[in-house]
Amino acid sequence: MATSTPTPALTFPAGFLWGTATAAYQIEGAVQEDGRTPSIWDVYSHTPGRVRNGDTGDIAVDHYHRWPEDIEIMSGLGVGAYRFSVSWPRVQPTGKGPASEKGLDFYRRLADGLLAKGIRPVVTLYHWDLPQELEDAGGWPERDTASRFAEYAGIVADALGDRVTTWTTLNEPWCSAFLGYGSGVHAPGRTNAADSLRAAHHLNLGHGLAVAALRERLPADAQISVTLNLHHVRPLTPGAEDTDAARRIDALANGVFTGPMLRGAYPADLIEDTAGVTDWSFVRDGDLARIHQPLDFLGVNYYSPTLVSHHESPDAHRSDGHGASEHSSWPGADRVAFHQTPGDRTAMGWTIDPDGLYELLTRVADDHPGLPLMITENGAAFDDYAAPDGEVRDPERIAYLRGHLSAVHRAIESGADVRGYFLWSLLDNFEWAYGYSKRFGMVYVDYATQRRTPKSSARWYAEVARTGSLPV
Ligand code: NOJ
Repeated sequence: MATSTPTPALTFPAGFLWGTATAAYQIEGAVQEDGRTPSIWDVYSHTPGRVRNGDTGDIAVDHYHRWPEDIEIMSGLGVGAYRFSVSWPRVQPTGKGPASEKGLDFYRRLADGLLAKGIRPVVTLYHWDLPQELEDAGGWPERDTASRFAEYAGIVADALGDRVTTWTTLNEPWCSAFLGYGSGVHAPGRTNAADSLRAAHHLNLGHGLAVAALRERLPADAQISVTLNLHHVRPLTPGAEDTDAARRIDALANGVFTGPMLRGAYPADLIEDTAGVTDWSFVRDGDLARIHQPLDFLGVNYYSPTLVSHHESPDAHRSDGHGASEHSSWPGADRVAFHQTPGDRTAMGWTIDPDGLYELLTRVADDHPGLPLMITENGAAFDDYAAPDGEVRDPERIAYLRGHLSAVHRAIESGADVRGYFLWSLLDNFEWAYGYSKRFGMVYVDYATQRRTPKSSARWYAEVARTGSLPV
């Protein structure tokens, strides 16, 4: 009798990078060690009522001390790359001026530890932890913050440029600008529509200046990028009004960053749509050229699509899953209503929709030919728990990953140049305004003991990384 070995259903291109991702404030803890000063997230999380259960990143998952174990875990899983962020107040405590060698040493050791295991370090320079001193001086709505960011980028490049080849300037600047300064559901918790657009511009400028600072210092083959949480926006109906609502949100979510960064101009419709909020006079001559820097790839974070319709009443809104009204995150789009897409949801309440990822990737590939893409985040929170036998079984996460990786594969077959995939997240961690209530890790963390237990999804993902294929 012939035995048949199951044929892998979907095989990814040779060299496809299989990674996993985290961010400093979500995992490191050690917030007062080795000269680190508070960031906006320390202050915000310590403000009563801001974060669920009053959780903070003070200890988080103690990665600052447990990084060797965490590298061992990744090595055991066979991942090829690890995307982590550098904490700005750890390496430049006042946000300007001298660097902290102790802080930099932490990341030098981390990068070396990864390289020793054959794992490619991928550095994100800014994953939301602005030094509080810079916020006190005005934060991202203030132009000087962009220059401070470029200076900090140069410090990190000087320290790590001999061992890190892959760099991302900003992570999800949409969240920094519009959740941080618009709806206020993220640090620093300010709520001013005009400031949120000023912040977006200065994040764009900071990105451009930082890319230039990196290019000056890094070898010619360094890979430099930015990570955007591009929204896949769908209209509720094909009617003209809903289509226009989708266009507005697309400009505010995507065009506000892809326009200047990838094309060298803000979309004309964005300027018009927001005319009642700001006159954009903070955009100075030469800014767009500074922002529009060649990139080696674009990082895309995707979790769920966005469904919108036109709404006559300016106070139409729904909860955006970040604990406050969606409305104030979208300056100038007050006649847009947001809807829950149909389908199963994760513990965040986000609809599971792999087709959205396929549609997003193929669209970005069409819009920006020649620009390689990297999925810098994708993943899901579920209510994971350790069973009495100690195992953490998360079949829903495996199904989520399988669905989304199939969508990535399909997008590649349709011509999208996707070079890699980073699962969010390596470890359960501090999920911003949700604190520790949402678990995104493929490795379970018992917060009382800091014990790490790979979930069944981690074993599944290890197999994917080992074979480069999705098992049948
Ligand atoms: C995007 C962010 O970059 C990350 O920090 C966050 O934990 C995940 N999405 C999940 O919400």
